Amino acid sequence: MTEERTTLTQDKVARLSDLATVDSTVSKLMELINDPEPNLEEIVDVVNHDPAITTVILRQINSAAYGLPRVIESVEHAIKLLGFRRLRGLVLSFSVLRSVAEVEKQIWLHSYSTSVLMAGLIDMNDLSVTRDIAITALLHDVGRLAMRQIDETLYNHTHHMSTNENIPITDAERYYFSVSHDTVGDWLLQSWNLPNSMRLPVAFHHQDAVPDDMQLESALLQIVDYIDLKARGSLCHEPSPALMDAAGVDTSTFDELEEYQKMKYPELDSSGIFAWPAQLGSATVRLKQLKSSKDLFANNSNASC
Ligand SMILES: [Fe+2]
Ligand SMILES: [Fe+2]
Repeated sequence: MTEERTTLTQDKVARLSDLATVDSTVSKLMELINDPEPNLEEIVDVVNHDPAITTVILRQINSAAYGLPRVIESVEHAIKLLGFRRLRGLVLSFSVLRSVAEVEKQIWLHSYSTSVLMAGLIDMNDLSVTRDIAITALLHDVGRLAMRQIDETLYNHTHHMSTNENIPITDAERYYFSVSHDTVGDWLLQSWNLPNSMRLPVAFHHQDAVPDDMQLESALLQIVDYIDLKARGSLCHEPSPALMDAAGVDTSTFDELEEYQKMKYPELDSSGIFAWPAQLGSATVRLKQLKSSKDLFANNSNASC
C-alpha cells in the first residue's frame, strides 16, 4: 500500500469552484442568477433552451417538499416559486451531476435515489423541513467528487482501503487526505455561497452529533443515505440511536424501507441520469403502499420542529 498522503485544505477545495460551471448553459445561468438584480425573463429563456434543466426545475417544484396543491408546468412560475437562491443551488447541483455523471456514475445514482427517497419520506410523514433538503440530498456526497478531482490516484487508494479493509470511506479519506468528504462537501458548498440550510446537513451527514436547528434535516439525510447504501449492498455507518431518538425516528421501519429501496433503485438507475422519471411523485406513490413507512417518525409532533 502506498504511503503517499496529503493534507487537503479548504483553500484548495475553494479553487475547484469551476467543477460546477464547465457547462456553457450553466455558466450563463450562474452569471444571470448572480447578477445583483437578476432578469427573470433572460433566465427563463436560457432554461427553456435546456430540456434537462427544465425537467429538473419542474420536478423539484412539483416534489413533495413544496406541497403545492396543483402541478406547476411553466418554468417562469416554477422559478418565481423557487426563488433565485434556491434556483442557484438546484442549477449548481444538477450541473455537477451532469458534468461528472460518467466518471462518478455510482455516486450520482446513489445521490439521486436518496433525493427521491427523501422527497417521499417528507411527504409520507408530513414533515416540516427546509425545502432545500431534497436538493441537499442530491449534493450530499459532492465532497467525494471534489477529492477525486483534486487527486484521482490518491482517491483510488482511498477507495481500495475502504473496500479491502472493510472500513467506512470517511475513515480511509481521513487517512489519505486528513479530512473526509462531508467536510470537503461543506467547503465546496461554502465556496458556492449556498445557505447553511444546505451546508449543515452535508457537513454532518456522517456525524453522530448534529446542530440542534438542523437536527431533523440531518437525521433525514443520514436515514436516506444509510437506507440507499444498504439497499445497494455498500458499507454505511448506521445513524446513531441517540440522533434517531432525538429526531423522533422509529428505526424499526428501516428494514422495510431498505426492501422498498432495493425494489426502487434499479428503476431509478435505469431511468438514466439525464432522463429524470417523467411521472412526478411515482416514488411517493409506491412508498405510500408500504404499511410501516408512514410510521418512520413515531412521534410526529416532535419531528416537525
Ligand atoms: Fe457521504
Ligand atoms: Fe451518500
